Amino acid sequence: MTAGKRPAVLVTRHIFPEIATRLAAHFEVEANDRPVDWSRDELLRRLHGKAGAFISSTEPIDAALLDACPGLRALCTMTVGYNNIDVAACTARGIVVTNAPDVLTETTADFGFALMMATARRITESEHFLRAGRWQRWSYDMFVGVDVHGATLGILGMGRIGQAIARRGARGFDMKVIYHNRNRLAPELEAPLGARWVDKAALLRQADHLVIVVPYSPSSRHTIGAVDLALMKPTATLTNIARGGVVDDAALAQALADRRIAAAGLDVFDGEPQVHPGLLALPNVVLTPHIASATTATRMKMAMLAADNLIAILGGKSPLTPVNPEVLT
Ligand code: 8YV
Repeated sequence: MTAGKRPAVLVTRHIFPEIATRLAAHFEVEANDRPVDWSRDELLRRLHGKAGAFISSTEPIDAALLDACPGLRALCTMTVGYNNIDVAACTARGIVVTNAPDVLTETTADFGFALMMATARRITESEHFLRAGRWQRWSYDMFVGVDVHGATLGILGMGRIGQAIARRGARGFDMKVIYHNRNRLAPELEAPLGARWVDKAALLRQADHLVIVVPYSPSSRHTIGAVDLALMKPTATLTNIARGGVVDDAALAQALADRRIAAAGLDVFDGEPQVHPGLLALPNVVLTPHIASATTATRMKMAMLAADNLIAILGGKSPLTPVNPEVLT
């Protein structure tokens, strides 16, 4: 194959050098080699004329952008979430979209569980206190929190990551698991976890620790708002590792300020990297910068999967993890 005939692909994000090397064996690669996000205009300019792109969850891909890039055949995101991509618009134009499920499930579940524990046991709040030199003496009620072991774990969104969190709670911490999901799990998946489907109101009322793992879509926007928070126990915690926008951050900040719930752990934010100022001002919230899948090994697997999808599609083979497989038929 001559170099000139190889498909041109774009790598929109600064990423492991191994990815560029792998892609360069198959394609003419134009890559973002700096840790800087491209503007929409720049993205559009660089995407023009490309057959495929390696992307992440932060580049908005809409119909207007696709219309400006008529040669595009494959969009491969290294993330499991793809709410930044107008999949219907891609399908209508015959563009295959792939995401990166499975490879990040356990890592993300580890983090969700850790964030929930840090929230329940006030780990960052107490660390800030210590680092500020304010620790003078022991006291029976200093940073008392809520137990995780034996408590009721409520999971909103019982997909792969939700089930992995449920496993940790049920097997490792003897938690009672309840969940709410559009579809009930098959009995053989529920049974080993002792997991019980409940309606959303029951989930909110009964959970000691609510973990949100539901994918973002226009219909899940503000799934948790003031009315929902009002149903929760005053001792409950809320952890969101799904997407900002699933929770109404302003309503959550108010509920935390009023101590209508005890605490929250948030890895995702509506409008991130901006964070609602009401949340930044509160002690009873643990805030992390969207790092649930961030281990070196897992990020490499996510990126390799996106690269492998790109190689498969543009090489005329079936993608490993298509989002819109109907394009291929
Ligand atoms: C990404 C994620 O790291 O895969 C996803 O959907 O949310 C994370 O694993 C994140 O999207 C990067 O912005």
